[in-house]
Amino acid sequence: MKRTKVIDALKCTAYGSDICVKGWVRSKRGSKGIFFIALNDGSTIKNVQIVGDDAKFDEETLKRITTGACLSVEGKLVESPAAGQASEIQATAIEILGDCDNTYPLQKKGASWEYLRTVAHLRPRTNTFGAILRIRHNMAMAIHTYFHEHGYFYFHTPLITASDCEGAGNMFQVTTKNLYDLKKDEQGKIIYDDDFFGEQTSLTVSGQLEGELGATALGAIYTFGPTFRAENSNTPRHLAEFWMIEPEIAFMDQEELMDLEEDFIKYCVRWALDNCKDDLEFINNNKFLTPNADLIPRLEGVLKEEFVRLPYTEGINILQEAIKNGKKFEFPCEWGDDLASEHERYLVEEHFKKPVIMTDYPRSFKSFYMKQNQETADGGSVGYKGAVAPGPTMQGTDVLFPSIGEIIGGSVREESYDKLMSEVKRREMDMTHLWWYLDTRKYGSCPHAGFGLGFERLILFVTGMQNIRDVIPFPRTPRNAEF
Ligand code: 4AD
Ligand code: MG
Repeated sequence: MKRTKVIDALKCTAYGSDICVKGWVRSKRGSKGIFFIALNDGSTIKNVQIVGDDAKFDEETLKRITTGACLSVEGKLVESPAAGQASEIQATAIEILGDCDNTYPLQKKGASWEYLRTVAHLRPRTNTFGAILRIRHNMAMAIHTYFHEHGYFYFHTPLITASDCEGAGNMFQVTTKNLYDLKKDEQGKIIYDDDFFGEQTSLTVSGQLEGELGATALGAIYTFGPTFRAENSNTPRHLAEFWMIEPEIAFMDQEELMDLEEDFIKYCVRWALDNCKDDLEFINNNKFLTPNADLIPRLEGVLKEEFVRLPYTEGINILQEAIKNGKKFEFPCEWGDDLASEHERYLVEEHFKKPVIMTDYPRSFKSFYMKQNQETADGGSVGYKGAVAPGPTMQGTDVLFPSIGEIIGGSVREESYDKLMSEVKRREMDMTHLWWYLDTRKYGSCPHAGFGLGFERLILFVTGMQNIRDVIPFPRTPRNAEF
């Protein structure tokens, strides 16, 4: 008999018809000679209930139906007398496709997140991870749909690169060289001439620079791929391998960029509410996930809020004011300091109580490619809507979210060849590997802008999960590349 997915079986109202379902046993109980199996095949958070008469099955088969075992069940679809489910299946035949022995690590309810990370090969079978992974899929669909509907082209940028986009130097090297026998020159530098690419290469930290090549040809592009950063930050918000979405758009200015960031995130959140109802309700109502009891209202709240647009300099003033009023932060936040997550979260969660798009950052900790704001005679600069800053600033536009901190990092790009080169020189950057990037500013340069959304940070927000290791199937973090 043809298999029906559990999601379809639960919607089916052809009571009395024969049906075949396949899946894994979530639980089995019995009473007065009748057994009840909760079977799940991953198509939905919901289980289908299988009911059967002990007497009609051989004892050996019944014994093998344990939590985690894989079954094929044939039977009759009937209306269920039990609350909370429309239909159930009265089993006529059960085949054990895969036994599950009693060392199965997922037998106990309420296992800790830490424990589940040690069994990442099996945790997708739990209710919570099933829900997260279906939501993750849906968010990927939302992203592709958004950009496709808005006329952006999906542009594939390389994962192996000879350049460091963000200039932070935290890259994983790619080589086929024999590490036990490295040839070095007189200065002790490794010779890469005989390496696979004939030069030093790494895994990319961002597809942006190639994305700009796409945008200055196709008008509007987006990338969506894995990104690698060898930053040794063991935080609940950092992965060494994460997925990033990077739109890049010709002829876009700062205001339009912020409009896009806000519209895009809201579209994704709305998509989750519209398409992941069962999974979100499961997370929202599960007592093991108490921090998420207000997940759905929180997502709905973001749709109603207009994001605050806040120049960095004003943000610093607010933080300084808070310190004056007794607020304690671990890290300093004088003008010129990069904001720590505690500062971002203070602004978003305590001060404004809604998402904030921060603009016009000091150039000291932002990337070389960002558009420079007009400088004033006294060494300051003028940014978004005429906001004045005491030092040189760039048109960065990061989106800060409640409980996450930075979810998007973006900027308008410096399109003037001369200004870009003066910044390159000021930073004493070696542009040997980026000659092609500079060509965009020589051959028909245009105003353009873009941003990078950390996919896992979006999933953190949409699922209400607390640790980024729990929203990707197989996380890569310092000292962990198992599974
Ligand atoms: O702010 P970032 O470093 O920006 C860029 O890479 C730009 N080239 C993007 C662009 O303008 N096209 O990274 C962008 C986003 C961050 O806001 C954050 O959400 C996420 O990527 N991100 C990480 N997510 C998980 N683990 C990490 N180690 C991350 N580093 C950045
Ligand atoms: Mg950033």
